[in-house]
Amino acid sequence: MSCKNIYITTPIYYVNDVAHIGHAYTTIIADAITKYSKLLGHRTFLLTGTDEHGQKIEQSAKKNGKTPQEYADEISATFRNLWNDFKIEYDYFIRTTDENHKIGVQNAFRKMVENGDIYKDKYSGNYCVSCEAFFSDTQLIDGVACPDCGKVTSVLEEESYFFKLSKYSERLLNHYKNNPEFILPQSKRNEVIAFVEGGLKDLSVSRTTFDWGIKLPTEMNENSHVLYVWLDALLNYITALGYGNNENSKMEFWPAKLHLVGKDILRFHAIYWPAFLMSLELPLPHHIGAHGWWTRDGQKMSKSVGNVVKPREVVETYGLDAFRYFLLREVPFGQDGDFSEKALINRINGDLSNSLGNILNRLLGMADKYFSMKFSSNSDIFKNEENEILKIISNLEDYMFKLQIHKYLEDIWEILSIGNRLIQNSEPWKKIKTNPAEVEALLNFIANLLAKVSILLYSITPDSSKEMAKSLGIEISAETYDKFIRKNEKIESFELKMIPPLFPRFEEKKNETIETKTEIVNNELEPLEELNGDGLIGIDQFTKTTMKIGKIVAIDEVAKSKKLYKLRVDLGEKRPRQILAGIREFYKPDELLNTQVCVVANLQPAKLMGLVSEGMILAVKDSEGLSLVRPERERKLGSKLS
Ligand code: MSP
Repeated sequence: MSCKNIYITTPIYYVNDVAHIGHAYTTIIADAITKYSKLLGHRTFLLTGTDEHGQKIEQSAKKNGKTPQEYADEISATFRNLWNDFKIEYDYFIRTTDENHKIGVQNAFRKMVENGDIYKDKYSGNYCVSCEAFFSDTQLIDGVACPDCGKVTSVLEEESYFFKLSKYSERLLNHYKNNPEFILPQSKRNEVIAFVEGGLKDLSVSRTTFDWGIKLPTEMNENSHVLYVWLDALLNYITALGYGNNENSKMEFWPAKLHLVGKDILRFHAIYWPAFLMSLELPLPHHIGAHGWWTRDGQKMSKSVGNVVKPREVVETYGLDAFRYFLLREVPFGQDGDFSEKALINRINGDLSNSLGNILNRLLGMADKYFSMKFSSNSDIFKNEENEILKIISNLEDYMFKLQIHKYLEDIWEILSIGNRLIQNSEPWKKIKTNPAEVEALLNFIANLLAKVSILLYSITPDSSKEMAKSLGIEISAETYDKFIRKNEKIESFELKMIPPLFPRFEEKKNETIETKTEIVNNELEPLEELNGDGLIGIDQFTKTTMKIGKIVAIDEVAKSKKLYKLRVDLGEKRPRQILAGIREFYKPDELLNTQVCVVANLQPAKLMGLVSEGMILAVKDSEGLSLVRPERERKLGSKLS
């Protein structure tokens, strides 16, 4: 196999907040594919970094009483430290405030001007600061809210430079058609095609109302303009290789093999980015892989709810390899996934401890007991099992590069099952007395199987794979990949080393509410004053109130009210209801949009601030604030509470 240059990128992360599970997910996938490519003998370049310009960062810095640069320095370092501690093998960590990046971006812009793709006009339209994106009136929800994050957009009217995006519509559509794997997975590709077919407008690529960004080239004499943050950010993928800045050009890595992104930023990568590259007369990346979003315990993560999964904490409790394995095994790439400690513990106990740990322990135990850790065999009696394993291995490379990593792992676990079954059926503990040579052949077969598995799992669980390889007496490298995976060479003699169990089991945390309840039920009940009064109602009265599950599908602020949001809540009826809720001080729009709530559905409609409200949302308020009452798991819209 020939050695290729493989360039893999993560998105560059905004420095308005520290890393969460979503950032770790993309970065870990990128790292896994890079490690895998290295084993295959390719030259790799993994890029990650931070996106530091734009209005959003400027505003966050101000809120924190810092200059944008101070603020960016601080948060950017937290990302870099996290990836260092997570042993991410990135080759370069780019910051969009780096001088080289700025020079590269200005030169790219010059080239776009030269190619006739930039013109000056007036921009008048809607802008979402949170997404740093422009939207037409028809795209907005209820005429004001951002269709991506639900936050209220602002109206911009400013002089702006435009990029001729519309000019590239046909070429983009042709590219999607001729390169069916340009966007992965397929379902996401269809969405992009539909968007482009809907018509592309030229893109405003400079802003004048703030100045935390890269200036236009000086010869343009446009000091009041800074470049649009997405133009600046996307170009990082080439400035990092030296494009336009004369720094040790690594442009031989271009085009990228894979840009990994979350589904929310696919549009920027699958439409704007290729159009920019066409304008720069550069080849397009091979694949753009868009993954889904993580929730926690079935709920959208949000800072104010305090349920954001912090990758460092998970790793401190459960270990880096277990976290990596969980992220890559739990969810098929492209689909949304849910993180819960229960699901993580299930993966650790079920897959890592029971299957993988167990087979290694069995091998080490038997090797120690029967052969003082040394055995040797060149028998062929397990040819059928070997063939099954080779067949499985022949598909693995494809799964990895097509981003079906969950399948890659599923199949490796099939190899482990073949091994575990074989031990079970061969009953070596009986046979050792009658046919020790067969037991020796069995152990040799299992040790060879695990040698393969340790190499194949290296990209996913690097530390434990290295431990496993050490106990088998092999190295993990491009050479051993070639020998044991590609050429199926077998090791005849082993001298094993004992190692502590790789993945100890975790006890599932006891659900404290359940425990307390049991205790109360077992005790005699003390009378409760509250249950003796006149105000008590019967069940018939309670059932007069219809409460239903609804989903917030749009959010708007109510002018002149600091407290109210005007929500659209879908109860599975002909149209979503309009509900006014006094929760604005406690929730940001993105914590509400697309989340489920409980709604009192048979209240007389009422008017608040001149607006009709067609229901009431259930919430709990105490001295510490307000919390919405939500179903613990997603329910069908319109389901009744009882
Ligand atoms: N700065 C831009 C990217 C520019 S790339 C040229 C950006 N940054 S971000 O920090 O807001 O988001 C980075 C990534 O995190 C995105 O790919 C996004 O999809 C991902 N995620 C944010 N929340 C997420 C989850 N809850 N789950 C999974 N990934 C999510 O966008």
